Amino acid sequence: MKNLKIKEIISEKKIQNRVKELGEELAKKFKSKDVIAVSVLKGSFIFFSDLTRSLDFDLKYDFIELSSYLDSESSKNVKIIKDLSLAITKKHVIIVEDIVENGYTLNLLQKLLQLRNPASITTVSLLHKPKSKKVDYNLDYIGFDISDNGFVLGYGLDYNNQYRNLPYIAEIQNLN
Ligand code: IMP
Ligand code: MG
Repeated sequence: MKNLKIKEIISEKKIQNRVKELGEELAKKFKSKDVIAVSVLKGSFIFFSDLTRSLDFDLKYDFIELSSYLDSESSKNVKIIKDLSLAITKKHVIIVEDIVENGYTLNLLQKLLQLRNPASITTVSLLHKPKSKKVDYNLDYIGFDISDNGFVLGYGLDYNNQYRNLPYIAEIQNLN
């Protein structure tokens, strides 16, 4: 694999501060409710573990794995690799995503979970590329809006399944 040139765009400290703020906002809304926090694998697992540890109320954990690939018309196809193991009917679901780009992943996930009649669905994403939106989705809490041009990695996000362990978010400088 070629050596990537990467540049830090969001520091570890900034991430930790924002995660704490998001945790406080979620705690206000969900304290004493029946909550299931859902990590969308694999990219959100680090954000998910920091965010949920900042929540000072009881909640259950679950995981779903989705993959998306470009189809021939250059729209994305999203597939379930691993489904939830808990029933979410009448529960308050908090979906935790790493990044929302075109919105195909979140659009499908929200439709799919809605069919199971949860009490509510709230979505949190660490990162958001607002100008890349191609389909509708609801995004209730955003860690950081970022530029739509670059490919980012670190803090759970990968390039070719690497770089997830960086404690900060970086942008690739020499992808093409
Ligand atoms: P969407 O369906 O276009 O919103 O894409 C969302 C998924 O694509 C994310 O959950 C990530 O897994 C992946 N993705 C999109 N942009 C990036 C990026 O800049 N870095 C790493 N993964 C990305
Ligand atoms: Mg994701």
